[in-house]
Amino acid sequence: MAGQGKTSKVKGNGKAKPAGKLWQGRFQEGMASSMESLSISLSFDRKLFREDIEGSMAHAHGLKAAGVLTAAELGKMLAGLKKVLADLEAGMDLFQPGDEDIHMAVERILSERIGALGKKLHTGRSRNDQVATDLKLYVRRQAESLEAAVTALQTAIYRKAVQYRTALMPGYTHVQQAQPVYIGHYLLSFFWALERDKARLRNASASAGQMPLGSGALAGSAFPYKRELVAARLGFPELSPNSIDATAHRDWALEFLGAGAILGALLSNYAEDFVLWSTQEFAYIELGEAYTSGSSMMPQKKNPDSMELIRGKSGRLLGNFTRLFTVMKGLPHAYDRDLQEDKEPVFDTVETLQVCLTVMAEAIGSLKFRTEEIERKMHPGMLATDLADYLVDKGVPFRDAHHIVGRMIGKAEERKVSFLDLPEADWSEIPEGKAFRKKLTFAYSAERRNIQGGTGSGSVKAQLAQAKRILGV
Ligand code: ARG
Repeated sequence: MAGQGKTSKVKGNGKAKPAGKLWQGRFQEGMASSMESLSISLSFDRKLFREDIEGSMAHAHGLKAAGVLTAAELGKMLAGLKKVLADLEAGMDLFQPGDEDIHMAVERILSERIGALGKKLHTGRSRNDQVATDLKLYVRRQAESLEAAVTALQTAIYRKAVQYRTALMPGYTHVQQAQPVYIGHYLLSFFWALERDKARLRNASASAGQMPLGSGALAGSAFPYKRELVAARLGFPELSPNSIDATAHRDWALEFLGAGAILGALLSNYAEDFVLWSTQEFAYIELGEAYTSGSSMMPQKKNPDSMELIRGKSGRLLGNFTRLFTVMKGLPHAYDRDLQEDKEPVFDTVETLQVCLTVMAEAIGSLKFRTEEIERKMHPGMLATDLADYLVDKGVPFRDAHHIVGRMIGKAEERKVSFLDLPEADWSEIPEGKAFRKKLTFAYSAERRNIQGGTGSGSVKAQLAQAKRILGV
C-alpha cells in the first residue's frame, strides 16, 4: 500500500531468499518462511495449470494483436508454453519450493526456457485478472463434465424405472405409508430433479462466461489489447463489462458451489431412502455387494456404506458453499488476497460430486427391489383417499366423505383389522359398497392418477418417453 514502510526485519533463518519472487523489485528483504507457508498456494492451484497455460497462450495472441509482441516472438512464446504444458501433462515435476502460485511458476519456468522474451508475457496482465480467468475456465469445464455425470446417473435411473415401471410400492409422506405409487414413478422423481440440477450447473457456467483478461489488476489494461480475440480463443462467450467487477467478484463460483450443494442434498435424500429401505425392517431393496461393506466385528452385516457416504458428502458440499460465501461477504469490492481461498472449495466440490455421481449411478444399476416383500407390507389404509373420492363421485361433499372414511378407519383400528375387512354393517354408508370394496386395490388407486405428472401407468409411460428423448437412448 502507498506510503507503507519496509516490512519488519525477520531474524534468523525465518527469512527467505530475497531474489526469488517475480514481484520482488521494490523489496529489500525476503518473505518470512512463516509468511511463505501462509501465502503459497501452489500446492492446490497447480490443478489449474492447463487453464493457466491456455490463458497465457491466448493472452500472448492478444499481446501480438496489441503490437507488444512480434509474430516471431509470439511463435516462440507459444512454442515455449506448449512445451511447459506438455511436460506438466506428462507429470514432470517442474515446480520449485519458492514458486508462490501456478501463475508465477509457469512464468518462471517459461522464462528459464525461452530467456528474456518470457518476461514480456505478463504485459498488461495482473494475476488478479489471470486467476479469475483460470478459475472461470475451470468452472466452465467442470460444470460441463459434471453435467455429463448427472446425465449418466439419469440414464441409470431411467433404466431402473423402465424395469420397475409397473411394480407398486407404498408412497410415503412423513415416512408414513400414504398412497400407492409405481416404483418407476418414485425413481423418475429423481430424474426430473436432476434435470434442474443440470440447468443450475449450466447457469453457473454461463455466469462464469465473461472473460476477465484485459482487466489488469483492477483498472483495465493500458495496452490496445484485443479482448474479443482472446475471449474467442478461450471459448468465453462474453467479455467482462467492468474491470473491477471482473477481478473482485466470485458470484459465479458461489453459484457453482450452490448448484453443487443443492445437487448434494438431492443425492443425500435418495441415499437416505436407500439406507432405510435396505434395513431388515423395510427389506425393500438390495444393493449390489460392490456398493456395500461388511463389519469388522459382526459377520452378518452388509452395510449400505455407499449411500451413507454419499449422504455424508452432502455436508461437505454445503460446507464448500458456506466456506467461500463466508470469505466473500465482508470484502472490500476489489481483488483482495482473501480471494485465494476461492479455489479449494471449488476443486473439492468438483471431485466430491464426480465420485458421488459415479457411485450413485453404478449403485442404482445394481439395485434390486424386493417386490413381493414390498407388496406384503403395503397397508390398505393407503386406499382411504380413494374411498373418499368414490363418495365424492356419488355426490358426497369431500369434507363429509373424509369424515365417513375416517370413522371407518377408526373402527378398523379398534378391531385391529383393515378397513377393507370391516363387517358389512360398517360399510353401510358407502353406496354399492360391496361391489366397490372388491374394486378397491392398490393398482386401482394408482391407475386413477393418470393425470399428467401423476403415478398412473399412462403418466409413467409418458414420463419415460420424455426421459428417453432427453437422454437420446
Ligand atoms: N494466488 C493468488 C490467488 O489465488 C493470485 C493472485 C494474487 N494477486 C496478488 N495481487 N497478490 O488469488
